[in-house]
Amino acid sequence: MLEKVCVIGAGVMGASIAALIAAASKQVILLDIVDANQADKNAKGRLALKKMLTQKPSPLTHPSKLEFITLGNLEDDLPLISDCDLVLEAIVEKIEAKQALYTKIIPYLSDNALLASNTSTLSLKQLRQNLPNNIAPRFFITHFFNPPRYMELVELVSDQQTNKRAIEAIASFINNELGKTIVECNDSPGFIANRLGCFMLELVVRKAIKENLNLALIDQIFTDLFKFPSTGVFGLYDLIGHDVMRLIFASLVKQLPATDQYNQLCVDTPLLDKMLDANLIGRKGAGGFYRIATGKGGQKIKEAINLKSGLYEPISISNERIFNSIEELFSSQSPYSGFFKQVWHQFYSYLFGCINSLTNEPRNIDLAMQLGYSWQYGPLELLESHIPDADKCFVAGGREQNDISASFLQHDYSKKLKQSHINNLLIEKSQIILANNSAKLLDYQQRLIVVIATKMNCLNWEIFELLQQAVKFAKQEKQKLYIYSPSKHFSAGADLKLIKNYVDNKDFNGLEQFLLLGQRTMMMLKNSPVHVISCALGAALGGGCELLLHSSWVVAHRDLNAGLVELGVGLIPGWGGVKEMFRRAGGNKEKLIKNLNNILTQNKASSADYFAADYYEEQNYRAVMNKDNLLTEALALDLPAKIVDSSSKIITPQVKLTEELDTAAYSPLQNSVLAFFQEIIDYQEIEEQELLELERQKFLELAHAFQLNS
Ligand code: NAI
Repeated sequence: MLEKVCVIGAGVMGASIAALIAAASKQVILLDIVDANQADKNAKGRLALKKMLTQKPSPLTHPSKLEFITLGNLEDDLPLISDCDLVLEAIVEKIEAKQALYTKIIPYLSDNALLASNTSTLSLKQLRQNLPNNIAPRFFITHFFNPPRYMELVELVSDQQTNKRAIEAIASFINNELGKTIVECNDSPGFIANRLGCFMLELVVRKAIKENLNLALIDQIFTDLFKFPSTGVFGLYDLIGHDVMRLIFASLVKQLPATDQYNQLCVDTPLLDKMLDANLIGRKGAGGFYRIATGKGGQKIKEAINLKSGLYEPISISNERIFNSIEELFSSQSPYSGFFKQVWHQFYSYLFGCINSLTNEPRNIDLAMQLGYSWQYGPLELLESHIPDADKCFVAGGREQNDISASFLQHDYSKKLKQSHINNLLIEKSQIILANNSAKLLDYQQRLIVVIATKMNCLNWEIFELLQQAVKFAKQEKQKLYIYSPSKHFSAGADLKLIKNYVDNKDFNGLEQFLLLGQRTMMMLKNSPVHVISCALGAALGGGCELLLHSSWVVAHRDLNAGLVELGVGLIPGWGGVKEMFRRAGGNKEKLIKNLNNILTQNKASSADYFAADYYEEQNYRAVMNKDNLLTEALALDLPAKIVDSSSKIITPQVKLTEELDTAAYSPLQNSVLAFFQEIIDYQEIEEQELLELERQKFLELAHAFQLNS
C-alpha cells in the first residue's frame, strides 16, 4: 500500500499530479527548488497551489483537497521524504538535473520506497545509471499525460532489472488509487503514444505542406472518417505548441537510430521555421495553423493558414471535397485520396517496424493511442475493422504493402483484444429477475442490481415501474438494492422527447401522471427499509440527480457531473429535487440559499467531492477514483442497517431570497422560479407531500410554456 507520496517539481505536471494524488485523499509532499529571487523558500510550490484554484479545467476535485498537500523545498525539507512510500520526480526534462536530484534524495529514501520519473523522452537505463543496486530495481518511469486528472493514460516503463513486486505496487496504486489505465511499455524513446502520435503529427504536417493541401480539409477527414478527436492533426499541433513539438521532435531524432523513419521526416519545411520565428506557435502564440480573427462586424472568424502562401484565410471546404466514407475517399481521384493512402501506409510500416521494441502486448498500442491521443479506434483496430481492403488501398498508394498485412496477422491481434471486463461480466454472470425494454433487475453474485439501458439512461415510465418493483423485491428479500449502469453516464434525466410529446399534444393530464409516477418512485427509494445505493459516473443530471438524492448511499466516480439543471429547458425539478433542496438544508438558511441558487443557476457539481460537499454527509457517500471499480467498491461496502428518516415535516428558514441573491441579470423564468421558492419559504413549515404537490404544479405551469431549449 502506498500511503504517502513525495512529488518533486511543482511545475505543470508535478503540481497536477500532486492534485490528483490529493483527490485520492493521500498525503502528498510537494517539493521544488528555492527561487533565489523570492523571500519565501516555498514560493514555487505556493504559486502552484494558487494556480490550482483558478486553473481550467481544474486539477482539484475540491478546494478542500489542498489540505492533503504539504509544501517544501529541496534545501530544507529533504527529510520529509523519509516516510514517503513513493517519490515521483517531475522536474525539468534534463538528464543531468534528474540524475543530480536522485543523488541528492537517495540518502533520505526509505528501504522500500519506490522512485519514479515522469520523463516523456529520457530512457529508463540512462536515468537509472547512477542509482545504487538496492534502489535501481525500484525505479520506473511513470509517464502521466497532461492534464493528469483528465487523461486516463499512464505509460509505465520497467525492464528485466525492475522488481516485479515493486511493479505490481506502483501499477495498483496508479490504477486503483489514482484511477488511471496503465499501459506497460518497453524502454524505447517516446514510449508508445508519443512515438507513434508525434510521428503521425509530423508526417501529416510536413507532407501536407509539401503538397500544398488544405489543412482544414485534412483535419475534417481525420475527424469524420478516421475518428480522431475534433482537433484533427493540425489543431492538435497548435494545442501542443509548435515550440514543444520542435523539442520532442529533436529529442526523438537524437535518440533514435539514423535508420529510423523519424529521421526521414527531418526534411526542410521552411513554413514551420517561419511560423516558429513569427511566434505562430499555436494557441499560446499569435496563432498557429489556425487562428481566430475578428471580422468587420466584430464577429469571430476561424481562419487557417494557406500552406503555400503562409497567409491566413477563412476556412473553406467545398462540397465536392467532402467524403462520406473511407471507401469513398480511397477510391476517389482527389489528391487527398493519395495523400491519406500514403500517410496511413507510412504510419503502418513505421508501426510494424517498431512494434516489438515498444511493447510485448499489441493491445497496448491501441490503448495508448486511444487514451493518450483520444483516437476513437486504436491503429490496429482501425486497420482490422475500419479500413476496407487495406492492402489494396495501400498498394494504390504506390508502395509495397504485403509487409503490413503479414505483420498484422503475425500479431494475432484480434484474439488478444477480447478481454473480460466488469461490464461484460455483469451481464454474462447475472440472472435476470425482472426486465423490460428500458431496465433490468439483475441478480449478480446474490446482489440485486438495477441496470438502466435507455439512450443516455434517460428516465421513462418503464424505468420507474421497474424501480418500484425492484424496491418491493429487495424489501421482500431483505437485500440492498444497487442502481448501476455499465455505460458512460448514470442518467441524463427525464426523457425530454416524452415530455415534449405530452406538451405538443396538450396532454397535461398524462404529464402529471408521469410526474406522479416519478415522485412516488423517488419516495419509495427514499423510504425503502433496505439501502438503495446509486453507483454513479459521468452525468447525473435532472432526474438522474434526483435518483441520487433519494438513494441512501451514493458511490460516485471522482469526476461525476451532477446537478439539477432543469431550468436549462425551461422547467424545474419535478421528481422531488426541489423538495430535497429544502429538506437537505435542514432549516439552515445559508444551506438553503446555496441549494436553491444551484437550481436557479443550473449549477452542476464538477466532481463527486463537490456534489458531496453540497448535499451529502461523509457517512453515506464514497468517491471512487477508478470508474471500472465503481460497482466492485459499492458491492464491497459494509453498511449498517438503514435507518429510515420518518419525519415528513420540513422547516423552512426565514429568508428573503431577493435580498440574498444577485437577481439583477435574472431571466423571467428565473424570477418566476425564485418567486415560487419564496412562496415555499413563507410556509415556514411544510409536509413533504405538500411540497411535492407544489413542485408538480409549478412544473406543469412551466410545461404549458415549455420550449425545448436543448
Ligand atoms: P515545468 O517546467 O512546468 O516544471 C518543471 C519544474 O522543475 C519547475 O517547477 C522547476 O522549478 C523544477 N526544476 C527545474 N530545475 C530543477 C532542478 N535542477 N531540480 C529540481 N527541480 C527543478 O515542466 P513540466 O512540463 O511539468 O515537466 C516536468 C516533467 O514532466 C518533464 O520530465 C516532462 O518531460 C514531463 N512531462 C511533461 C508533460 C507536459 O505536457 N508538460 C507531459 C508529460 C510529461
